[in-house]
Amino acid sequence: MPTRSVKSPSVDSEVTTMTTPEKAPSRTVRPTAGLGSAATSVSAPGEPVMDLSDVSVFYGDFEAVRGVSLPIRHNQITAMIGPSGCGKSTVLRSLNRMNDLVAGARVSGSITYHGQDIYAPNVDPIQVRRHIGMVFQKANPFPKSIYDNVAYGPRLNGVKRRAELDDIVEEALTGAALWDEVKDKMKTSGLALSGGQQQRLCIARAIAVKPEVILMDEPCSALDPIATSKVEELMFRLAEDYTIVIVTHNMQQAARVSHYTAFFTAEVDDAGVRHGRLVEFDDTEKIFTNPAEQRTEDYITGRFG
Ligand SMILES: Nc1ncnc2c1ncn2[C@@H]1O[C@H](COP(=O)(O)OP(=O)(O)OP(=O)(O)O)[C@@H](O)[C@H]1O
Ligand SMILES: [Mg+2]
Repeated sequence: MPTRSVKSPSVDSEVTTMTTPEKAPSRTVRPTAGLGSAATSVSAPGEPVMDLSDVSVFYGDFEAVRGVSLPIRHNQITAMIGPSGCGKSTVLRSLNRMNDLVAGARVSGSITYHGQDIYAPNVDPIQVRRHIGMVFQKANPFPKSIYDNVAYGPRLNGVKRRAELDDIVEEALTGAALWDEVKDKMKTSGLALSGGQQQRLCIARAIAVKPEVILMDEPCSALDPIATSKVEELMFRLAEDYTIVIVTHNMQQAARVSHYTAFFTAEVDDAGVRHGRLVEFDDTEKIFTNPAEQRTEDYITGRFG
């Protein structure tokens, strides 16, 4: 597989979560820039939307993750679990080219979205991120009003009419299970919300631009159990419309919310270098009840990691 250099385009990583035009994960005509027919493809639930084939990710000379192959299935939640440093965030970020923003990062192997290689030379990473949005570990609302946080992406995409923006904002906040809590304080700063509300605001901001896939890197790690269960419930609901990939350290959470689980670990090679490896990918139920690999069993039963 060829190894491609990853450029560092000058994009604001926060903006990248919210720049998709129209909604409708499965049906809408999406912008084509570089993504070709991938932009307009339709998937049935459970069909792969993305495919990773023999993916390795490097930071300079360091091969952080080696040889990962797995599908990301439509309208399903895929969890990535494994011990710290095994490359979960690295793999997640490679799914929407967020690693492009890390100097020296590069990807080999292939990552396709509706069959289109997202690292092909003609593909614009900003377009990729319009389809594949991201929610970060730490909620990162902009220092703007709640309304403006959610309207930010649609405005960037050219939506100007107030009534249309109002509808988009209400729909996104409703979709993120936050509308009832904030509908009377649209002008309040997003930073004035609680941590759990801020995370749901960030989810609203991500879905306001109608991505098809939402990547979430430990979205609940800074939240208390009640806020966590709200976000988990929300994920369930979002999976009706979106394809979700979640990195979590919380195995109960992976078992509760996901349909598929990928277990990663770090292996030391003959030269003594640690590389993240995918040990096992399967239905979540199988991974947690009858994994094929001893290392998976050791991890989920707490004997390792
Ligand atoms: N920007 C970077 N530059 C260089 N090395 C990096 C960078 N980001 C991650 N790494 C290295 O890549 C490997 C995988 O890191 P990554 O953050 O993907 O792990 P993780 O599984 O998400 O860990 P955690 O559970 O602690 O978040 C680690 O060895 C890490 O040090
Ligand atoms: Mg991580």
